[in-house]
Amino acid sequence: MFFVDKSDTAFAPLPRLADEKGAIGRPKVRRTGRAKVTGTAAYTAERDGRHSPDSFPGLLHAVAVPATIAKGRVTAIDASAAEAMAGVRHVLTPANSPKIKVPEGAGGLSFQSVEPAGPAGAESQEIVHAGQYVAAVIADSFEAARDGAMAVKVSYEEEPNPLIAIEAVRGSQERPESLMGDPPVMEEGDAEAALREAPLRIDQQYKTDTNHHNPIEPHATIAAFRRDDDGSETLSVRDTTQNLYGTRGSLAEAFGLKPEQVEVVCDYVGGAFGSKGVMWPQALLACKCAKLAGAPVKLVVTRRQLYGGTGFRSPTLQRVGLAAKEDGTLTGILHEGLTITSIRDNYSDAVVMATKVMYAAPNRRLAQRQGRLNTQLPTFMRAPAETPGMFPLECAMDELAEAAGLDPIELRVRNEPEKDPTTGKPFSDRRFVECLRAGAERFGWADRPLKPRQRREGRWLIGTGVAAATYPAFGFPTEVELTIRANGSVRAVCATHELGTGTATVQAQTTADLLGVPAGRVTFDLGTTAYPKGGVSGGSATTLSVGSALRDAAEKLKAALVQHAPAESPLSGAKPDDVSFDSGKLVLTESGEGEALEDLLEEADRAELSAKGRYSPGESDYSKHSFGATFVEVGVDEEFGLVRVRRMLGCYACGTILNRKLGRSQFLGGMVMGIGSGLLEVTHHDTRLARWTNDNLAEYHVPVNADVPDIDVMWIDAPDFNASPIGAKGIGEIGITGVNAAFANAVWHATGKRHRSCPITPEMVMA
Ligand code: MOS
Repeated sequence: MFFVDKSDTAFAPLPRLADEKGAIGRPKVRRTGRAKVTGTAAYTAERDGRHSPDSFPGLLHAVAVPATIAKGRVTAIDASAAEAMAGVRHVLTPANSPKIKVPEGAGGLSFQSVEPAGPAGAESQEIVHAGQYVAAVIADSFEAARDGAMAVKVSYEEEPNPLIAIEAVRGSQERPESLMGDPPVMEEGDAEAALREAPLRIDQQYKTDTNHHNPIEPHATIAAFRRDDDGSETLSVRDTTQNLYGTRGSLAEAFGLKPEQVEVVCDYVGGAFGSKGVMWPQALLACKCAKLAGAPVKLVVTRRQLYGGTGFRSPTLQRVGLAAKEDGTLTGILHEGLTITSIRDNYSDAVVMATKVMYAAPNRRLAQRQGRLNTQLPTFMRAPAETPGMFPLECAMDELAEAAGLDPIELRVRNEPEKDPTTGKPFSDRRFVECLRAGAERFGWADRPLKPRQRREGRWLIGTGVAAATYPAFGFPTEVELTIRANGSVRAVCATHELGTGTATVQAQTTADLLGVPAGRVTFDLGTTAYPKGGVSGGSATTLSVGSALRDAAEKLKAALVQHAPAESPLSGAKPDDVSFDSGKLVLTESGEGEALEDLLEEADRAELSAKGRYSPGESDYSKHSFGATFVEVGVDEEFGLVRVRRMLGCYACGTILNRKLGRSQFLGGMVMGIGSGLLEVTHHDTRLARWTNDNLAEYHVPVNADVPDIDVMWIDAPDFNASPIGAKGIGEIGITGVNAAFANAVWHATGKRHRSCPITPEMVMA
């Protein structure tokens, strides 16, 4: 089923990949599908005691009180009216808030803004962004808590000129400390000189706007402190999170507990897209409320509070310069980006990162600056570096193709590097040109006119555009436990997350092939810190990290089973390397002689046998990235400013696709989100108040079915065993990375007008 054309890879190919019996690749449906469509899958935000009567008896509800100013200080909090309301139990303010140690944070983020701000004398009184929590109301019901929260009177001393627009910090000279571990300035040769001297040059300013994630399940936490008979304290938490162990570590630190005293559980995540990758203040606030009330407390962030209390995608201002010879060969690449961060904390989208691997040139300068605004801290949002960063690069490539009189695909093929232009390492596997060619063929690119404004159908000008997609093959340290049982069943567990991607389904398929058993016999459980450590489910890293740890566990199980083989067995004394799992047996690879797994356990008098597996990516000799090509066709009505998506096609090279159906859904989801970032989604702000104004789903436009045409998804079936032990590279994010630029390029092709700001909105098209 898969095309494996390399045998000298860093990791040996999985034996079953090319095998008809294999489970990997099969289009199995999500194991969680039935629970989700029948409404029995309980998300954190909707757990109310009916779903989990045993977990949180006497559950109370808390609603946060957000600051209504963006800069200044709290002078007084009057909770008396709220406290007198029916159902209200407590009002948490800095005066009675349980003391915590502000945790160091995870993923390089700090948490300076997690303490509720209060009046003078309280530990924190400074307001640095609108929506910062200043208090919380704890009540018998969500409704009573919400009413109470509206009755809390907060007085402020407001400072002038809060900043929310990126243009206000255009001149900032501050550099981010690092860009995902890389320095914020990378220079070789002289890109500015190359730009001055080149016969062909593009040098333009670009903008990408603020986006908010808008998961359907908002951030939510249920917290309960328990005191056991021996006097020891435990904190039990249900949290909607992409990072179970990260949240556990931060909460333990905050409340002075050992990590083992904190349990974090999350069965399902109702959308995240990066927004639940680090712990946000609501989790700490819920725990504080539980402590104050001496009862379990649930806190669900409201839709509006998602725009002030949790992270978002930074707006960016970027400059891209491309210098080229007459034939389009690049001689210089300049990419400078400005992103934003909050007043006290640090996060910067690494927008120049993709440029490091896309194209080579002897003269390159990649540099980033950041400015500080009165906002909550920005955070990861689906392909946080590439979605904003590939927009100017791939628009500029289209402009260069126009200047060179070349087809945009031909220009990219001419600039295809042989190795990673920055590290000099060979690519684990690249296949970008294959994606361009295969995509172009299926999309019907061949007869596309080079010049714009060549096709019209009634009111609609029609154009097509292409752009590259890329994403790194990240992996995070991950541990799993794998158990085979005498009854023939197999169970794997890991504290990883079900983001809707089908983790349990695809890892059951992986386990099945690793052990040579049918996938139906394999259970994969996740979602609690009771299981071995999973990494953050971000960076498109979960599938390859968990699968690679499972491969390690399967190897260890093999060694343990050989040890348990009785003296008369052909397996007795065999080297683990000389045996393999095959069709429910462990056999000598050479002869095929061996024994059924059940028999081996029976003979060893064991009901089950377990092994722990680990994956830690470490340094690689290879540059590990996925690549792809995104094609779109748009219709543009210039009078009404409308851009309609007519067709989209994505072709990707991401290594092993573990499940054709769920893999397609991941690519598709990324492309649909790209319709949002490219054409629809922008969080507007009020410059005077420094507040987001369209903080709701009615005015913040995520794509709906009417915006989404039939989308064609294809990929190159080529496992990449230089990238990971299961040949897979992540697929959750690459789908969105080329879409912004593909739209801008298609709108130019339709109309002849370049838009260098994203999303492309009706007023821009009409202007
Ligand atoms: Mo993704 S933005 O790394 O959760």
